[in-house]
Amino acid sequence: MKKVLNFSAGPSKIPTEVLKIAQEQLLDFNDSGISIMTGSHRAKMFEDVHNETIELIKELYKVPDNYKVLFIQGGASMQFAMLPMNLKQSGMVEFVDTGVWSSKAIKEAKIQGLDVNIIASSEESGYDCIPSKMIFSEDCDYGYITSNNTIYGTQYKVYPKCKNLVVDASSDVFSYPIDWKNIGLLFAGAQKNAGLAGVTIVIIREDLLDIAGDDVPSMLKYKNYAKSNSMFNTPPVFSIYLLNLTMKWLRDQGGVEQIQVQNKQKAKILYDVIDSSEGFYVGHSQKDSRSLMNVSFTIRGGYDELQKKFLSKAEEKGMIGLKGHRLLGGIRASIYNAITIEEVQTLANFMEEFKQENFNKKTYEVLNVKCGGCANTLKKTLKEDFGEVEVDLEAMPRKITLDMTDDRMEELKEKLRSLGYPLTTDELSGFDKLSTTAKSFVSCAIGKMSDEE
Ligand SMILES: Cc1ncc(COP(=O)(O)O)c(C=O)c1O
Repeated sequence: MKKVLNFSAGPSKIPTEVLKIAQEQLLDFNDSGISIMTGSHRAKMFEDVHNETIELIKELYKVPDNYKVLFIQGGASMQFAMLPMNLKQSGMVEFVDTGVWSSKAIKEAKIQGLDVNIIASSEESGYDCIPSKMIFSEDCDYGYITSNNTIYGTQYKVYPKCKNLVVDASSDVFSYPIDWKNIGLLFAGAQKNAGLAGVTIVIIREDLLDIAGDDVPSMLKYKNYAKSNSMFNTPPVFSIYLLNLTMKWLRDQGGVEQIQVQNKQKAKILYDVIDSSEGFYVGHSQKDSRSLMNVSFTIRGGYDELQKKFLSKAEEKGMIGLKGHRLLGGIRASIYNAITIEEVQTLANFMEEFKQENFNKKTYEVLNVKCGGCANTLKKTLKEDFGEVEVDLEAMPRKITLDMTDDRMEELKEKLRSLGYPLTTDELSGFDKLSTTAKSFVSCAIGKMSDEE
């Protein structure tokens, strides 16, 4: 069988041990003579699996007795609408906006006619962090956060306080222990850390079950799921079965406490490569908001050709699912619970190798740059297209250092020419002929270029 390392953001890797058991049991579940997929959901065979799964979740996640574990279909996205339908009282809800998934939840709450307050947002900085100040008011029906932002690679280190905190934990569920004290409801689609798409896990504090009025459709009411032990209609049996196997696998790993230790080690391996890459790899998230689940980064300030090359080389080496989300671009390595340290190390080694092969830092002397202001203007102008440029303001002539491949050097020259910078000694002699605007723009010229590796 082809060996592939799957860094996909979801659906994502399911532990091989889990898939092997599922394979063994596919045609004949526990000597029943039938597949778990084909028996009645009311039969003891499935009911045992179903109830055991709930117990495993309670045990592993240390869910207090006054919470119910529910299994609902419709994905995590359906929760965006079910929440306001079920939990509205005064009609005022508060959100922290940390990206696409919270924005979608905000939209659905508005559709339900709720008065939505966004108490903090990281939109302005391109969702590169978890806001530092988040204070929910006493009288909101619920306060909403997305604990891990799958696209941007940001994650809460501590949840903010709120009397009814709602957490979308779709991309970091079961990856660290939860302090349930101020949580009203936590939900997660299964397809990242909990197995197969098709089931959404909702863990809700019991007092919240009684809020929903008669106007909430039966299939969208948490209370109906709680009363029927999530058998209000036919549940997604195979997804629940795979969730069961995944929870047993998690127990074998030492539970969420131990998996958290491993997740920290895995993330550190990749962030260390990024941080020591001299700007070749640039992480999207600010350091104190970095996710342990999704590592989103660009190569040399988002240089598309190089990123494509990275992805295709990675694929040649059997590493797939690394393309960043279409909204952010770049690269994203999703390293959920099922990804092993060895797999992450293989990716890290590849990143190092790729950098060695493609990192081409060169220093050029810039003639006639008289002042720091000129040099900084040049630096800013180049940064837009070429990423980070170092300017040595002490040296005379000034020096700029940038990471540059030969083909990109042509692009750089083109850019500089279009800005009115003479490039060679010959062109330099034509400096006088340039327009006044071009001259005043920086009044400097790139002259004799000396390559220094
Ligand atoms: C944090 C988060 N919330 C919600 C969703 C939506 O999940 P679903 O596709 O199950 O509706 C996703 C999907 O990736 C997600 O990452």
